[in-house]
Amino acid sequence: MSAKTIPVQPFDLVVFGATGDLAKRKIFPSLFKRFVAGQMPIEARIIGAARSDMDQAGFVDAIRNAFHEFASVAKDEEEALEQFLGLIDYVPIDVFGDAGWDTLRDLFREDVIRAFYLSVAPSLFGDIASKLGEYGIKTADSRIIVEKPFGKDAPSARELNQKLRQNFEEKQIYRIDHYLGKETVQNLMALRFANGLFEQSWNAQNIDHVQISVSETLGVEGRGEYFDKSGSMRDMVQNHLLQLLCLIAMEPPARFTPDAVRDEKLKVLRALDSIAAEDVVRGQYRSSEAGENYVDHAKNPDSRTESFVAMKVDISNWRWSGTPFYLRTGKKLRQRISEIVISFKKPPHSIFSMNAPLKGNELIIRLQPDEGITLKMTIKEPGPGGMRLAEVPLDMSFADALDSSQATPDAYERLIMDVIRGDQTLFMRDDELETAWEWMDPIIAAWDAGTQKPFGYQVGSAGPEEALMMVHKDGRRWRGLGE
Ligand code: BG6
Repeated sequence: MSAKTIPVQPFDLVVFGATGDLAKRKIFPSLFKRFVAGQMPIEARIIGAARSDMDQAGFVDAIRNAFHEFASVAKDEEEALEQFLGLIDYVPIDVFGDAGWDTLRDLFREDVIRAFYLSVAPSLFGDIASKLGEYGIKTADSRIIVEKPFGKDAPSARELNQKLRQNFEEKQIYRIDHYLGKETVQNLMALRFANGLFEQSWNAQNIDHVQISVSETLGVEGRGEYFDKSGSMRDMVQNHLLQLLCLIAMEPPARFTPDAVRDEKLKVLRALDSIAAEDVVRGQYRSSEAGENYVDHAKNPDSRTESFVAMKVDISNWRWSGTPFYLRTGKKLRQRISEIVISFKKPPHSIFSMNAPLKGNELIIRLQPDEGITLKMTIKEPGPGGMRLAEVPLDMSFADALDSSQATPDAYERLIMDVIRGDQTLFMRDDELETAWEWMDPIIAAWDAGTQKPFGYQVGSAGPEEALMMVHKDGRRWRGLGE
């Protein structure tokens, strides 16, 4: 056990949808990693619940196989894996009927934290929550964890919230946005609020603009039919990108407590201006290879769903008025990279000659991969020949700067342990989520009402030309993907 790892209290966790992809790829492997790290105690129990009619041994076998398929189990972890698998039970359950619920109830222990992970379609959230109430499984201290998509617009998100709240209080509900579990995303708060250096200049007086880019090389192969009903706006912007924007733009909370942090994020969301049509660009990937276009992966030749979106967002408050935030995200782009660029204004006056034009500093926060921070500084180019200026990076990679034996935990590891600890800081509150949808709904409604299709962009490019132009017309440029 690492010196820094404090075990959480014993818990009983039921994973609904336990035979699904997320459970196999993320939830069980993350729990195992925390078990190996000594954070998940041996007294904990995990119960898989799903429709499939199998017994405990069959389920444990399926999980063991999935581990070998998806997760890296080191040679010296095989013994730990068997111990971990020994903590797992399984109950076949009928969400709409009575089968399985009594058995499930009897598996829970008194005086142990109860957590219910709903790794299922959102349409089942309400039914499962009521069954947990009806069968007396939930207690006042139980926690319920839900995955996205949390609604498709503000009314559906509100309805889901209402359904959950019929049986659970807000302080028991943990809505996962896995971006908030990423170490580097949490680091945004450390960067801002544990350093005095930037705060004085963290505003529209000193910052020209901000760019938030989340670009992926993967397409929607395999999940095209799901994605086609969602699109990048709902799938990525509504949650991940807006959360990043909030962390960059929010006021310092008085304390690092769940509601203090979430109150500040909510104020940012409430201050977002509505967006003009010319400030959003949608794209859809195209390929010269047959069958590799977005529409092929979506199995919908007429699809108007976006696999790329770029937008200019204004925040109307004292700190940010006049400093645009440019957001972009897309599939099948040139490089997988998530980064935030804080582009500072140029010094107000140059004492140097015209041959030495000044540039504003740039703070580049790389969230993934190769996590780190770069500050671009201007220095004198060495050598005789007058005062020439050059831009150089002050570069810091987390892997080099920190003890590399402390491997970065997966977002789910952190988030599930936070649920057990009862810490909601990294989870979205109901009002945050609904406000994000309220801001976004008119944009999507305008697309739906129109007939325009997203612009095409080549697989492996940086997105549609129009997205580049959107920034150029403001006299700015996107940082190149992987520059
Ligand atoms: C998910 C989206 O929430 O985030 C996916 O549904 C996307 O479409 C994924 O690929 C990206 O996550 P990450 O952690 O790979 O950046």
